[in-house]
Amino acid sequence: MSVLSPALQGFQTRIETVLAALLPAADLLPPRLHEAMRYSVLNGGKRARPLLVYATGSTLGVAPERLDVPAAALELIHVYSLVHDDLPAMDDDVLRRGKPTCHCAYDEATAILVGDALQALAFQVLVQSPALDVLPPRQRLLMVQQLAQAAGSRGMVGGQAIDLSVINASPSELELENMHIHKTGALIRCSVLLGAYCADAVDEGLLLQLDHFAKCLGLAFQVQDDILDVESDSGTLGKTAGADAAANKPTYPSIIGMAASKRKLRELHWEAVRALEGLDAPLLYEIAEYTVSRVH
Ligand code: IPE
Ligand code: IPE
Ligand code: MG
Ligand code: MG
Ligand code: MG
Repeated sequence: MSVLSPALQGFQTRIETVLAALLPAADLLPPRLHEAMRYSVLNGGKRARPLLVYATGSTLGVAPERLDVPAAALELIHVYSLVHDDLPAMDDDVLRRGKPTCHCAYDEATAILVGDALQALAFQVLVQSPALDVLPPRQRLLMVQQLAQAAGSRGMVGGQAIDLSVINASPSELELENMHIHKTGALIRCSVLLGAYCADAVDEGLLLQLDHFAKCLGLAFQVQDDILDVESDSGTLGKTAGADAAANKPTYPSIIGMAASKRKLRELHWEAVRALEGLDAPLLYEIAEYTVSRVH
């Protein structure tokens, strides 16, 4: 299933408007940097992390107005990670979301600065959102702390460092899982947690349930990314298919084989769904299904 329900499509449309409003105008000084930031963010991503923020928050009865900025903050960090991921020093990719990557459309130095600025912007919007003023200051600080942790050396950036260190190597399945949990899982998990922290109060048991759901989903997301790199084509993906094999990157298919990778994906989906047991959370079920059946 790759067609989203009207509810999730509504959130996709919503986050486009939010992001467009939060990003500095393209003619603001320095215009080339701001234009490149807008080029990199406003270009048709799936917005999976914002959708998770909205879906988790909605499940807990939070109004979308309160979820807008946390959803945007997650996407800004994610896009920064993509812009840097595509740099020659990392994956050296020329295609992203169906368009030339930031460093190809602009230049390498600009792409580095775009990533830096998007990361700073994510934290800036999170701390200055008036819609979050209703939350207890400690809860709000926790959101900032969670985002910093998920983005940093114990989260996404740490995962990217592992990714670069295992090129041409054959890590064990456990090492591969650890890499994926960090490079992709951390921000997915953080999306669910930030959505939950937008609620006035969250029951500890419920938080644990959602966290387990998010951990399974985060790993599943990268397993499917690895599978699509092998099975799909650049036109459908909007990024270069076969890039992992070309760069000698260990992935789930290359380490455990395609059939076992698909089995792993089904198991992770099943475990994610099981974590939601007892919750009235149709949008989270839908995102779980989407994560493992998406075609790009
Ligand atoms: C791609 O992320 C990189 C990973 C972390 C797997 P997405 O598949 O969410 O890419 P976009 O945001 O839709 O372009
Ligand atoms: C990306 O992993 C992880 C992050 C950007 C943090 P990949 O390198 O597999 O992502 P794609 O395939 O280029 O989107
Ligand atoms: Mg990469
Ligand atoms: Mg890449
Ligand atoms: Mg990939």
